[in-house]
Amino acid sequence: MPPMHHLVEVKPSEQISIPDEFELDDRGQISCKTCHGLKDIKKTPLDKVDRKADNFFNGGPYPRLIDFCHRCHDKKAYARPNIHQLLDDKGEHDKKACEYCHLEAPDPEKTADQQEIKLRLPVGILCYGCHLKTPHLNALNHQVKPDEEMVKLIKSSEEELVVILPLDKEGRVTCVTCHSPHQAGLIDQAKPAGRQIEDTTLKEGVSYQPHPWSAVFAEDKKDRLKELTEESSHSFSLEYQRLKTEVLLRLSAKDGALCLACHTFKD
Ligand code: HEC
Ligand code: HEC
Ligand code: HEC
Ligand code: HEC
Ligand code: HEC
Ligand code: HEC
Repeated sequence: MPPMHHLVEVKPSEQISIPDEFELDDRGQISCKTCHGLKDIKKTPLDKVDRKADNFFNGGPYPRLIDFCHRCHDKKAYARPNIHQLLDDKGEHDKKACEYCHLEAPDPEKTADQQEIKLRLPVGILCYGCHLKTPHLNALNHQVKPDEEMVKLIKSSEEELVVILPLDKEGRVTCVTCHSPHQAGLIDQAKPAGRQIEDTTLKEGVSYQPHPWSAVFAEDKKDRLKELTEESSHSFSLEYQRLKTEVLLRLSAKDGALCLACHTFKD
């Protein structure tokens, strides 16, 4: 069996619902044939096991492996909770939810000193447990220290636009420089830390729409993508899209306000 294989020979607890056509062994435990339809899989050498067979997984084939897991495991209990969704229908928040990131739930009525906020992890790595370091294009190359001139522009943008653009302890741009970690409205929107863009619900989230520029963009990248495809034997395609809805952003990227808080362009 492969090293990260699913556990076997356990009696299912109440959280597990075994479909009728999945057979338990005579002790009522899950065994090879509960999950695998292949005959004598236990005795078959690993390199002879046909993983592509429809009945490799009972009831298969499954479009995604996770669909097989959900035959027995409750889908809802394993869903990723959107921890940015902090307010209920009445606009109240549950202090427990704050403790995903904060050591103790802060009072949203109070304006905090950024140095005083006690987080579970340094702000520069707080998001990595659930998100990648590279969640989207240009996220990684932004996680650097801005030069003196840009730091000045950031400071004046913060004052002028009544917003915060907090850097990490080393003075680098980080996820929360551009993103607010909180649902809009948790902190009063008139306060710098509460100013943010949310033109749709968190459930709907960020969305994009097609744009005519995409054809030009694809043509421009064609040769490089072809090279990459030949090198790696995977095929790649890139599409240029426009932002349609924005959430969890301190300033709008759609109209460029976010970018202009740090960047200047020569005419
Ligand atoms: C609860 C379900 C379950 C049970 C019970 C189970 N398996 Fe599996 N098995 C899996 C899953 C899921 C995978 C695929 C893992 C993956 O793709 O990473 C797998 C993969 C395998 C593979 C292919 C490994 C590979 O790397 O190609 C073999 C061989 C295998 N199982 C043998 C067994 C044997 C032998 C038993 C009984 C001792 C058993 N399994 C019991 C779920 C199960
Ligand atoms: C045939 C039913 C069945 C299928 C299919 C199945 N499991 Fe399980 N799984 C169990 C049982 C039974 C346990 C033991 C724990 C229990 O009874 O609550 C378990 C336990 C686990 C555990 C450890 C305990 C936990 O709940 O965190 C993990 C992780 C897990 N399964 C992941 C998976 C994944 C991933 C898949 C799909 C690749 C999968 N299972 C498919 C029956 C199943
Ligand atoms: C996903 C992580 C995360 C969660 C969940 C979270 N926070 Fe925060 N919070 C942060 C980070 C990072 C900062 C520092 C940057 C900032 O101020 O936005 C912060 C700052 C704050 C501040 C200080 C704002 C200021 O004035 O500068 C308050 C107040 C606050 N959080 C309240 C809460 C409350 C109340 C909850 C629960 C309902 C909560 N937070 C949940 C990550 C989180
Ligand atoms: C405990 C896990 C967890 C942590 C920690 C976390 N997030 Fe999230 N985040 C989620 C989930 C779940 C979603 C909902 C969308 C999804 O499933 O990918 C989400 C959504 C988002 C979105 C919106 C994406 C969309 O498609 O609408 C942004 C932006 C975001 N997170 C930024 C952050 C930032 C910045 C931090 C660190 C301060 C952070 N997150 C920390 C779990 C987490
Ligand atoms: C320079 C600003 C900037 C930085 C730094 C940044 N982002 Fe983003 N991020 C954006 C913009 C702009 C969007 C798209 C619009 C939106 O979020 O509404 C976005 C979108 C996202 C999305 C949703 C992607 C999608 O397509 O669904 C997630 C998740 C996210 N960011 C997480 C992070 C995390 C985690 C970090 C830190 C590793 C990070 N971002 C750093 C500006 C930034
Ligand atoms: C908080 C400040 C800040 C914000 C907001 C910001 N940037 Fe940046 N950006 C930087 C820093 C710092 C660098 C790296 C140093 C440099 O190249 O000047 C950078 C670099 C870049 C680069 C060059 C990347 C490379 O690989 O050389 C581009 C392109 C860029 N930003 C576009 C954007 C866009 C588009 C937005 C708005 C969605 C944006 N930036 C928002 C601070 C910011």
